[in-house]
Amino acid sequence: MKITIFGSGYVGLVTGACFAEVGNDVLCVDIDQDKIKRLQEGHIPIYEPGLEDIVIENSREGRLRFTSDIAEGVGFGLYQFIAVGTPPDEDGSADLRHVLSVAESIGTHMQEYRIVINKSTVPVGTADLVREKISSVLSERAAAIDFDVVSNPEFLKEGDAVNDFMKPERIVIGVDNPRTKELLRFLYSPFNRSHERFLAMDVRSAELTKYAANAMLATKISFMNEIANISERVGADVEAVRRGIGSDSRIGFPFIYPGVGYGGSCFPKDVQALERTARKYGYDSRILQAVEAVNHDQKLSIVEKIKAHFGGSLKGRTLAIWGLAFKPNTDDMREAPSRVVIEALWKEGAVVRVYDPVAMEEAERIYGKKDDLYYAANPEDAVKGSDALVILTEWMVFRSPDFEMMKRDLLSPVVFDGRNIYNPEFMEQSGFTYYSIGRLP
Ligand code: UGA
Repeated sequence: MKITIFGSGYVGLVTGACFAEVGNDVLCVDIDQDKIKRLQEGHIPIYEPGLEDIVIENSREGRLRFTSDIAEGVGFGLYQFIAVGTPPDEDGSADLRHVLSVAESIGTHMQEYRIVINKSTVPVGTADLVREKISSVLSERAAAIDFDVVSNPEFLKEGDAVNDFMKPERIVIGVDNPRTKELLRFLYSPFNRSHERFLAMDVRSAELTKYAANAMLATKISFMNEIANISERVGADVEAVRRGIGSDSRIGFPFIYPGVGYGGSCFPKDVQALERTARKYGYDSRILQAVEAVNHDQKLSIVEKIKAHFGGSLKGRTLAIWGLAFKPNTDDMREAPSRVVIEALWKEGAVVRVYDPVAMEEAERIYGKKDDLYYAANPEDAVKGSDALVILTEWMVFRSPDFEMMKRDLLSPVVFDGRNIYNPEFMEQSGFTYYSIGRLP
């Protein structure tokens, strides 16, 4: 099958590489010529386990190619995926500029039937806008060429994206005619094994499914963070509560881990965008507003604990920070709790010594050189001479550190754990003052 993917970012690259991996001919198109050149040379612009191998392998086999020639892209695939970014605009709504510009290009260059597939996370109604855009360009050209627009949201998790694509829990397709539905079913058949995972529905429901999934997951997290905050006040242990409610199969264990708030390029943006969509249609979504507000405060609540411990002022204090990425197995710092925490610590007059196993380059790109920021070479280096340690991402390597070293190198043995990775009893016995999220000290 011939497939064109517009946008060689996170979603586009994973989608392209995985379709090539099962034998399709894939052409990835991006307007960023530098990125395309680097991809042609086998350099992957993002950190994603397993992705580099399949990109290199499939490029070598000739099944995966990269170009910045848009007309070539439109001419290539029967299936035209739109996987470009939809960043939030000033009011939090998704900015559709890139999506519509791809639609315009498709309308401008297409010569025969095309299936245009929206993979970007786009507000309900976007497929209609894409359809209108292509139709209007075609009519300007006085070209009568048939096409379909399909919604096919992706459910990839950063850090596990290749696996999520190759073994999806569901393949959601929003499509309004049976023939196109069958073409999509055929395209996805290598990933639709063992039991039926193909969920076809109308276009708007597919578009909303994506937002509803992320908003539900974000809601679980904010809800659990609220339970953690209540636990701290009433003297309960949120870990026990988590086990207690997670064992109810109607609730389940995933996504009920309290922490320093959710981050990343999806949850914050999607919760906001869905709230704005609801508002646009005259509905006031109090739940989505609360999910966002709780998450905002949660990122700052650890700073309040640090301040309280040091008597209300952090002037002249140095804090070691372990973890900058918004979650483990990625170097992504978009909307990361670490950024909110570090920036709040700076405001309070503190200096930070930061360490992350993979996000150091990204941190340097964001913050550059600063007097109140030291990029540590390893976890030990971050701790050295700091007044306390703050853990913001639950990387494996932080789970079993040399606690004796920590005690020796910290000015005072104080740990603020934003991810609940240590046992409070053990920490106390080991002589640490240990703060975590919603647990009994
Ligand atoms: C999320 C969804 O999980 C994917 O299904 C979806 O496809 C993707 O967004 C997207 O829309 O593209 P991702 O942003 O990669 O994926 O990250 P998650 O693993 O979902 O984590 C999001 C945030 O929630 C992280 O900051 C994480 O630390 C936090 N989290 C997660 C918690 O605080 N507690 C939990 O119990 C689980």
